[in-house]
Amino acid sequence: MSSSTNNNTTLNDQPTDVNVGCCAITLNINGQDHAFTVEPRLTLLDALREQLLFTGTKKGCDHGQCGACTVHINGERTLSCLTLAVMQQGQRITTIEGLAEGNALHPLQQAFIEHDGFQCGFCTPGQIMSAVALLREGHARTKDEIRELMSGNICRCGAYNGIVEAIIAVMEVSDAAV
Ligand code: FES
Repeated sequence: MSSSTNNNTTLNDQPTDVNVGCCAITLNINGQDHAFTVEPRLTLLDALREQLLFTGTKKGCDHGQCGACTVHINGERTLSCLTLAVMQQGQRITTIEGLAEGNALHPLQQAFIEHDGFQCGFCTPGQIMSAVALLREGHARTKDEIRELMSGNICRCGAYNGIVEAIIAVMEVSDAAV
């Protein structure tokens, strides 16, 4: 188990304390354990972003409406703004940082690039995490079903056509019916 250090460094070089609050927890994120302390009210989203510096997961509405904060818990898509960090001990958490294998992007990450599945990119980590789970769920067979099952992820840039095309491209490679 590797435990996080007491002083992480943010992008603007402001030190941040990974241990804030009274509850000692260990979260398994992208296959690595992180031991730290949190306030019991802290959301998983804020624990990821503010204390562990997994800033790939985005905070959009912070109310479960936009999908920008989507991560996987035990392989299932979950809105990290609506779950408490202290509830996720012993669970397998995957963030956008955990999708690529070394320098090899996940097929959906590559497909989003090739099919213009984003503009500003703010919603993209959540879109991709949702899309990975959608393919795993296996319920989407048509463009309309993809749109319906991705409807919890809002894109303010309106990159929806590219997002659907990217998902379909990966489905086709996976021999899933479209
Ligand atoms: Fe900008 Fe989706 S790419 S919000």
